[in-house]
Amino acid sequence: MQASQIRQRFLDYFASKGHAIVASSSLIPHDDPTLLFTNAGMNQFKNIFLGNESRDYTRATTSQKCVRAGGKHNDLENVGVTARHHTFFEMLGNFSFGDYFKRDAIAYGWEFVTKEMGIDPSRLWVSVFRDDDEAFAIWRDEIGVPTERILRCGEKDNFWQMGDTGPCGPCSEIHYDQGPAVPCTVGGACGVECECDRYLEIWNLVFMQYDRQIDGTLVPLPKPSIDTGMGLERLSAVVAGEQSNYHTSLFLPILEQIARDCGKTYQKSTSENDVSMRVIADHLRAMTFLIADGAIPSNEGRGYVLRRIMRRAMRHANHLGKKEAYIYTLVALMDTLYSDVYPEIRSNRRLIEEIILQEEKRFANTLDHGLAILDEMCRELRAAGKNTLDGESLFKLYDTYGFPLDLTVDILEKQGIGADEAGFYTAMQQQKERARASWKGATNAVSSESIRQIEQSMTQQFCGYEHLEHSATVIAILDEAENRIETLAASQTGTIVLDITPFYAESGGQVADSGVLESDGVLFEVSSVNKSFGGIHLHRGTQREGSLRVGMTINAVVNRPLRMNIVKNHSATHLLQAALKNTIGEHIKQAGSLVNGERLRFDFTHWKGMSPTELEELENAVNAQIFANAHVAKEVLPIDEAVSRGATALFGEKYGDEVRVVTMGDYSMELCGGTHVDATGEIGLFKILSESAISAGVRRIEATTGRNALRLLQTTLGTLETIAQTLKCPIDDIPLKLARQQESLRSVERELRETREKLAALEIGALAAQVQTLACGTTILVTALTGKTIDELKTAVDIARNQIGDGIVALGSVLDDKVSFVVGVPEALTSKIKAGDIVKCMAQIAGGSGGGKPTFAQAGGKHPEKLGEALEAAREMIARIFQ
Ligand code: ALA
Repeated sequence: MQASQIRQRFLDYFASKGHAIVASSSLIPHDDPTLLFTNAGMNQFKNIFLGNESRDYTRATTSQKCVRAGGKHNDLENVGVTARHHTFFEMLGNFSFGDYFKRDAIAYGWEFVTKEMGIDPSRLWVSVFRDDDEAFAIWRDEIGVPTERILRCGEKDNFWQMGDTGPCGPCSEIHYDQGPAVPCTVGGACGVECECDRYLEIWNLVFMQYDRQIDGTLVPLPKPSIDTGMGLERLSAVVAGEQSNYHTSLFLPILEQIARDCGKTYQKSTSENDVSMRVIADHLRAMTFLIADGAIPSNEGRGYVLRRIMRRAMRHANHLGKKEAYIYTLVALMDTLYSDVYPEIRSNRRLIEEIILQEEKRFANTLDHGLAILDEMCRELRAAGKNTLDGESLFKLYDTYGFPLDLTVDILEKQGIGADEAGFYTAMQQQKERARASWKGATNAVSSESIRQIEQSMTQQFCGYEHLEHSATVIAILDEAENRIETLAASQTGTIVLDITPFYAESGGQVADSGVLESDGVLFEVSSVNKSFGGIHLHRGTQREGSLRVGMTINAVVNRPLRMNIVKNHSATHLLQAALKNTIGEHIKQAGSLVNGERLRFDFTHWKGMSPTELEELENAVNAQIFANAHVAKEVLPIDEAVSRGATALFGEKYGDEVRVVTMGDYSMELCGGTHVDATGEIGLFKILSESAISAGVRRIEATTGRNALRLLQTTLGTLETIAQTLKCPIDDIPLKLARQQESLRSVERELRETREKLAALEIGALAAQVQTLACGTTILVTALTGKTIDELKTAVDIARNQIGDGIVALGSVLDDKVSFVVGVPEALTSKIKAGDIVKCMAQIAGGSGGGKPTFAQAGGKHPEKLGEALEAAREMIARIFQ
């Protein structure tokens, strides 16, 4: 049975038992910023289990895309080596939300495995949580599993929980005994609990009963529920009687294609080549699905996990002899194999190929060099009699050559060398601190020590959401040299800390406010505001009048017009993100943003540029929301509630238990700490300035709003009006009028050219007197014409040659401070003298260069005053040769 049939049989079986077939959710868990990647079928149902959400079904079944490759304890180095480790896998599951419980879950599980899949019951073992007598009895009495094949296991194996907190419960597992043909590799008393490959856990039935709290306590769920998970890869292997998941229809087509492409044969062995092929096949699946769901390789968070997977695959491709970008060509096969079930592969195929190709190119640039450096490091290590590579070196490979840590560890392992992983993290931390220190220098920030003292002694209040002006007390002043001082005198620069402030500090892509701190005769100009690590707003700027003292009460006044512009741009960024999703597709993910008083910048994932029509549609969509003047709500909500309402969150951001949610009508909802308009109408107008590519698969839109947008349109319109006045026509007629003018310009130019040529002909005619006949009978004309372009000179040479028959013509002319020469030599004379020789002789004198064919050549020179001298030299050269 093919894996695709097994997947379908599973969904059909549970559909026949009243389960709704629900599509797999994205690998990027949009509704759970605490989760790196979707790692179980139940993720998308978390809130239903917790009772925070209800749907119109109480039974569901899915085939869920999962990735388990992040965090500290990942299996990356086992992937490709063992028979059953993967980064990406599909989890088949059936779910009950307060509907059926243990009895039915067990009965369905047994029936599907033994009847639908036809697995021999005598090969099956089951396990239950140690004191779950109820499950034990069901297996024994209702299913008829012999008591000796029902095991009671502890928390480690038979209590499942999603994470440190959240839904959890005891579970019961179905295991498959592959028989003595798969000998135990661990030793000791082999059995279901043994780590070897003989006994395979194929299905985990979780009896969801509790919500684990942060302190570890278990709070009962509103209704006992069911969550099950069975890896499609493993089940396919068992059904096919194969010992390795890789030797099923899920992987074999990929392995065979790789083997063909690399001129090898896949031999189902543990050889290095076979391992490399399995690594590529596994990682190809992970990267394809991850990119389809919006992940992009980068150096942090999810992007870093993806990059590690990609680079590991690339190194193995390199090992198989693929020195050029290769893996991206396999996406076509993924499309064929998976798009029927997961159409996102097909709809994102171009993006996936492009991102993989770019990453391959980037990595190829450093791979060879990095490997050579690593080799050298290993040699030195051995020479020094050591066998562990230090953290600094590991970090250097990471930082300079893009070698993810596990890639280096992988390579070292093959050479029997260890790696100081802790040292790697220390080196990384040190670099971060260095970067921070240099940033401090650049922005004139104060020492963290002074700031830490201030942070410890106070709490600061931010009132900038409601107020643009507020009275405040000066808590601390720091001078430029980072010392705490009592007074800041006129014209000194420094940093001010207040007890309460309306000034927004730069964060979340929004720039800081500027403004003043003032009281009688005292004026401090705030030019930037940063947050300290502890979150205190640091007002930096210059004392303009009087002096500022600690303890003084001042009025903190934000530059209102600037803030209003920033606010409009920020709110428009939210509308833009929502509009992009609506007009281009849900795959659009934010990849960065910047909002200031002039404009907004929004970076997002998309594989191709947008057409003018698409941009217009986008602009219209945003403006439609502005004209609708929707209410903008800002609420502080518990994180769970915010995400269950559908707020867009950014992974990698640290969200507390409470988050601020900004909602614009029913169009946009984002977690955001920025400042916003109260109604979308305040934005006034939204105008896109540009759309461009910034890296593989990432596009950037720049736009502006409100007065700035108006001013832009006014300036453009003003320019058009000036043009219209000059052209003496209405604005609408400008294109037509310009087209006509260009047409008439072209015909005038044509006439001019013809007239000038005629003029040249006349001039040449007048020069007939200057034609010389040498003693040998050859005629020559060597002379200057006035103000001719090089093209006109060429025409003149042609005319002159006609007039003087088989003669040599050399003409020169000065125009715009430059001198040009054109020489024509009759074919019959080229054995004696070539046009190029004559022209070079003249160009040399006039400070230039030139060349051409033996019969025709041209040159230019920088010294017009040498025209006469050059012609004279040409004349002498010709005379010498023909004398
Ligand atoms: N959620 C359970 C697991 O992942 C079924 O094993």
